[in-house]
Amino acid sequence: MTKKNNVIQLSAVKEKRDKKLQAEADALAQSFATAKAIATTPSIKEIRKEFFELSIKTLLAALKCKDDYTWGHSLRVAYLCVSVGKEMGFSPDELYELEVSALFHDIGKIGVPDAVLKKPSRLTDDEFLEMKLHPSKSFEILQDFPIFSKMAVNAKYHHERFDGRGYPEGLKGDNIPFYARIILIADTFDAMTSTRPYRKGLPFDVAFSELREFAGTQFDPQIVEKFISCMTKEQSKNEETFKLQVIAGDFKKDAA
Ligand SMILES: [Fe+2]
Repeated sequence: MTKKNNVIQLSAVKEKRDKKLQAEADALAQSFATAKAIATTPSIKEIRKEFFELSIKTLLAALKCKDDYTWGHSLRVAYLCVSVGKEMGFSPDELYELEVSALFHDIGKIGVPDAVLKKPSRLTDDEFLEMKLHPSKSFEILQDFPIFSKMAVNAKYHHERFDGRGYPEGLKGDNIPFYARIILIADTFDAMTSTRPYRKGLPFDVAFSELREFAGTQFDPQIVEKFISCMTKEQSKNEETFKLQVIAGDFKKDAA
């Protein structure tokens, strides 16, 4: 074999080896790309959670358009409920359900006329009857959405009283859903302590006395004590803002 033939043969071998190496490198790059795509593609569970939370945000945005105060109140009540839920040893899933139920408790106020909802003075009997429809309206808004079915029930019963003299159905004691009993206490506490354009919020200790006075009649007495102990700790933290699980952001504890 001539020297020239040897060179041609060697370059053919080199070309073949280079092609093989390139094919291996391409295959490796492809499998990396596939692995990366799998790692960054959301699972069905993640997509479901994202859809769930977007639905919550959309409904709350509608509530904010209707009445900024009720929106802020709903966020604060959700935070207070989660705080007491933690105090009571709830699991993360339970805390999540409680938070969403509380966020939605007053969503039915979207259906209350502005003249009643935003009236700064005392409501007439007829106006009060109109206002009392809001828990049932919360249920109406949420009931057909299967992912909100538990929250719909908790929202519906957040104005039931422990002694059975609440509304809409006059449920009594343990027949009132547990989360609805927690929401009522947090709801009343926030309503008492938040500052409105026409009045200053009550100090915590005055609100605690009110809760204790109506423990056993309006409120579940066991939850009242847990709530007060939790709010006492909350007060000592001296934080101006709070966070929620479902909605991103720092929200002001002070109502305005
Ligand atoms: Fe309410």
